[in-house]
Amino acid sequence: MRALLTLIPLACAVAVAGTAIAQEAGKSVWQGIYTEDQAQRGAGTYAQRCGACHGAALNGTGEAPPLIGGEFVSHWDTMTVGDLFDRVRTTMPQNDPQSLTREEYADVLAFLLKNNGFPAGGQPLDKRSEVLATIGITAEKPAGL
Ligand code: HEC
Repeated sequence: MRALLTLIPLACAVAVAGTAIAQEAGKSVWQGIYTEDQAQRGAGTYAQRCGACHGAALNGTGEAPPLIGGEFVSHWDTMTVGDLFDRVRTTMPQNDPQSLTREEYADVLAFLLKNNGFPAGGQPLDKRSEVLATIGITAEKPAGL
């Protein structure tokens, strides 16, 4: 009995550590973190609010850098979707920052992710920065996903 009583707290400690590790590992942008519908809504918002500077095909203009391709993705490699969301939310559109709703920013982000080859899935992209901060961006699809 005594041995059992000392084992219980140990088992709890191991369980708690396991949860912490799972949260740290988080999710990946390669796991289908937005829906097709969301990306489609985002396309409309992009055309109205972003395309004039970043180009209709996201490939940049004299006014603003491309939001598609290797250079763009490498800027965000090893960062999180939350970092990208907050960067866009707080600084874009450059001529009127923070003028979209969180839903609209999430939709535009879904559109950007789709155009950069990250897959759609069944769950819409969250609009809370702290949730998006648990989703890692990697240029290469991690082995095993
Ligand atoms: C008035 C022009 C303008 C508009 C409109 C605009 N941007 Fe930008 N954007 C810029 C410029 C200029 C930069 C480069 C300077 C900087 O990084 O702030 C930039 C940078 C960015 C970056 C960083 C690029 C990188 O390589 O990391 C992202 C992401 C971005 N914009 C997204 C958006 C989105 C999404 C919208 C629409 C909601 C938008 N922008 C609307 C001008 C604009």
